[in-house]
Amino acid sequence: MNLLAETRAGAAFALEDAAAYQEWRAAKLAHFPGTLAELVVEVRDPRALSAAEKQALLERCMRANMAVYASAAGDDPDKEIPRRIGLQLGLRELDPNYLADDDGISPLTVAEHGTRGEFIPYTNRGIKWHTDGYYNPGERTVRAVLLHCVQRAESGGENELLDHEIAYIRLRDLNPQHVRALMAPDALTIPARIEDGRIERPAQSGPVFSVDAGGFLHMRYTARALSIQWKQDAATQAALAALEDLLATGSPWVFRGRLEPGMGLVSNNVLHTRTPFADSPAHRRLIYRARYYQRIGAG
Ligand SMILES: [Fe+2]
Repeated sequence: MNLLAETRAGAAFALEDAAAYQEWRAAKLAHFPGTLAELVVEVRDPRALSAAEKQALLERCMRANMAVYASAAGDDPDKEIPRRIGLQLGLRELDPNYLADDDGISPLTVAEHGTRGEFIPYTNRGIKWHTDGYYNPGERTVRAVLLHCVQRAESGGENELLDHEIAYIRLRDLNPQHVRALMAPDALTIPARIEDGRIERPAQSGPVFSVDAGGFLHMRYTARALSIQWKQDAATQAALAALEDLLATGSPWVFRGRLEPGMGLVSNNVLHTRTPFADSPAHRRLIYRARYYQRIGAG
């Protein structure tokens, strides 16, 4: 486990240092959980984690960039639950989504009317593979995401999850040139969003894979094809095809599960999907989502 921590901050993600990569890769795969169940931590009170509960969550995040807590909070809609879980894991700075409530924690539920209903998260439709905040500028990079379930849907609404470091490993093992192409600063561009002739959000170009000041890998990706511009050169197109292929093919590293009331997912913004869902009067899906600029356990 120490190897994971030590080599991360080193040269594991530099293409010219194959030895550092191989060392980190071996440690990563050796410690990676075999099942989603290994990522679940039972917590007594999510508002006040015990030292052992907190340590268990951090340890899983170190191995797989994600952890699931299961609590007896049930369908308690108190937003202090996700907020305090985040704070206890070192997550302080929320990314203000302009559709979120004022406190920066978005209630994801099916919107009947209004602006929210135009955005897929506020519908019951499925969402393809992505990381959160891929349209954000670099200074607002979303490094951690917390999803807290108040209520599940009657059916569906599952998440598939893939640690982005595993996606990196699989691509680099296939061909290091795929990684090189996806680290280019102009690999993926989100065109400006224009409403009524006004620029609501400027165009955002950036890499898919980047390494932050702490030596940690970040991934920026969406499988959606609409309003997305991929660099048109052969290397980027080949890398994109390889990435799409590995996401479309099941693997032991992809986890799939549904959050039940009182449960939550904490992650360093790993790749994820959402399956379509159907609500009923008793089970109207409500997930609180919080996005942060810090990584889990950063301080
Ligand atoms: Fe998401």
